[in-house]
Amino acid sequence: MLLEVKGVVKRFGGLVAVDDVSFDVDKGEIVGLIGPNGAGKTTLFNVISGFYKPNKGKVIFKGIDVTGKRPYEMARLGLGRTFQIVKPLMGLTVAENVAIGAMIKYPDASEALRKALEVLEFTGLYDKRFALARTLNLAEKKRLELSRALAMEPDLMLLDEVIAGLNPTEVDMVLDLLKEVNRKGITILMVEHVMRAVMNISQRIVVLHHGQKIAEGTPEEVANDPKVIEAYLGREEL
Ligand SMILES: Nc1ncnc2c1ncn2[C@@H]1O[C@H](COP(=O)(O)OP(=O)(O)OP(=O)(O)O)[C@@H](O)[C@H]1O
Ligand SMILES: [Mg+2]
Repeated sequence: MLLEVKGVVKRFGGLVAVDDVSFDVDKGEIVGLIGPNGAGKTTLFNVISGFYKPNKGKVIFKGIDVTGKRPYEMARLGLGRTFQIVKPLMGLTVAENVAIGAMIKYPDASEALRKALEVLEFTGLYDKRFALARTLNLAEKKRLELSRALAMEPDLMLLDEVIAGLNPTEVDMVLDLLKEVNRKGITILMVEHVMRAVMNISQRIVVLHHGQKIAEGTPEEVANDPKVIEAYLGREEL
């Protein structure tokens, strides 16, 4: 098992944002993590990637108990992530932003830049390599975010809404890219509200609601689960 989340609880004061959640991700899988707004998806990502320490429970990555490890240590161990709120270093170029991600694996600046350019070619942003990050549109910023995570050469990528806000053509481009990333051997755990996308790409889906795991299974099983339908009732996502 590549990732094991065991009984994780994360509280903010009186609010239980993640409430005793357990699930596994096997090497090579693409797993979707879905749930209505405020379900606790981003908080769970923050616990897995070391930004938050859980109040209870454990995170096991590659068989190692990594609970409470710092984000930098998690990156070193092979965990890449993107952020829901895209925040590249706006005053740096696209290539520089990606090279910073690459420095986790390639401390030498010229090596990091070489890796960055290789990734940008793969993600289709090579032509924008000299552009300042602030000049990119939303779709390009999301691809930059993906590029930064890929440049760390992770074994597991946590993707937080890399598709939301894109037009249908851009959605298909990112889905193709993610399938290619997965074929290269990178395991993916993705949070996504765009159901068509997450249902299309995921082998397995975990559903959170009010911090709790309410369902887990194939896209079809989850889409037909009464508890999931109930959680999304009155919302347009499903
Ligand atoms: N730093 C924080 N301090 C206090 N409360 C927080 C904090 N971060 C998240 N929360 C609360 O925890 C709950 C879960 O939030 P979270 O961002 O994890 O949800 P989400 O599933 O990612 O939602 P969305 O789909 O809208 O991104 C929400 O009620 C949110 O208001
Ligand atoms: Mg979120």
